Amino acid sequence: MVHKSDIANIELKGEGQLLYEWANRNMQVLARVGQRFGKEKPLAGLRIAACMHITAETANLMAVLKAGGAELFLCASNPLSTKDAITAFLVNEGVTVYAIHGEDRDTYFRHCQQVLDGEPHIIIDDGGDLTRLLHAELAAKGKNVIGGLEETTTGVIRIRALEREGKLKYPIVAINDAKTKHMFDNRYGTGQSTVDAIMRSTNILMAGQKVVVAGFGMCGRGVAMRARGLGADVIVTEVDPVRALEAVMESYRVMPMADAAKIGDVFVTVTGNKHIIRGEHFEVMKDGVILCNSGHFDVEIDLQQLAKMSSGKVRLRSDIEEYTLSASKRRVVVLGEGRLVNLVAAEGHPASVMDMSFANQALACEYLVKNRDVPKKVIDMPAKLDNEVAALKLAAMGMSFDQLTEAQAKYLNSWEEGT
Ligand code: NAI
Repeated sequence: MVHKSDIANIELKGEGQLLYEWANRNMQVLARVGQRFGKEKPLAGLRIAACMHITAETANLMAVLKAGGAELFLCASNPLSTKDAITAFLVNEGVTVYAIHGEDRDTYFRHCQQVLDGEPHIIIDDGGDLTRLLHAELAAKGKNVIGGLEETTTGVIRIRALEREGKLKYPIVAINDAKTKHMFDNRYGTGQSTVDAIMRSTNILMAGQKVVVAGFGMCGRGVAMRARGLGADVIVTEVDPVRALEAVMESYRVMPMADAAKIGDVFVTVTGNKHIIRGEHFEVMKDGVILCNSGHFDVEIDLQQLAKMSSGKVRLRSDIEEYTLSASKRRVVVLGEGRLVNLVAAEGHPASVMDMSFANQALACEYLVKNRDVPKKVIDMPAKLDNEVAALKLAAMGMSFDQLTEAQAKYLNSWEEGT
């Protein structure tokens, strides 16, 4: 069966190639995996359907999976993060791509469906959209699936819910939960790129701003850390007492959103939950506040409610829309339509950190192929592979680390030795 891609403009392929090569310079771990895949072809004869942010880093992952012998089908995991130059480059490289920057909701879901037409063997998901389709209306397209991978926290929450209900149809590796993923990508990647997006889109001076970070998870602590580094006065909101306490001990102010809403200048939601900022908060915010979201879905800021409470909305700059509240006439600025701001208004995570996330993806594909008897559950990334990624990254950075002596290894595994 011939599959025809649906992309914006194939003529952008040269520009896409340059973006791919630039990212490639900082993706040495993935490249190492790719060199081995090129020789061993562990994915030969397999079709992979992927739903991901289509960036230069993703193009590097696609190249490695292709080197491993896979046939690739790719759609976007967010309509605004797609780089049209990258889709053109990938199509030119033989990947079937269904994604156009800014596509509407219907096109987005049509593309998600089309990517499954090839009846894939492996699913790579970022947020769980393909998994959801394969467990509902498109179940018939999943008959060849041997396993899946899930990239992000929000997707892992969804697959764990499927597992709890006993409905998971194939094993899925929770890539997000690999140490070399969430401790680095979510923290340093989201931290830097979210603050970068706020600065690029608004050009505000971060020093002196009261920045409210909702959610002190891996992403939230990264955003808080980088905003503080630029001189912002950071306030954290949380629902988990342990995480709230951690934020306090990191010397951030912690308070409920109802209080933070009154004093914040910039708000960043990064909880993976919905309606973190809603009607009662818009009502009390200062004139001209800036709101953005770096959580996976565009549900963290209740934009429908904001629209209802507003007399109008104007676009001020490419990623800035301003709502004027009907009652108070106060203005509320929203960045990137409430979608992940770091991918919409900046370039997403730097290649160096995606190097580790995507090396995990490639190694997990190989793991699924070689371990076809794993149960239909959410699978942790094997610690051996996780550690291999860390060791390769250190080597790529020119760093080395200690090894346990024989006596130390024995000591750590025994109970007899005391003081
Ligand atoms: P996490 O689970 O480590 O942290 C989320 C935190 O939000 C938790 O501490 C939780 O208690 C808190 N929370 C939940 N409801 C809340 C509420 N109503 N108010 C305040 N806090 C609340 O998750 P992680 O890894 O930090 O991811 C957060 C979101 O970011 C997810 O949607 C994830 O998929 C997404 N993500 C986005 C990336 C990006 O590039 N923008 C990259 C990686 C993850």
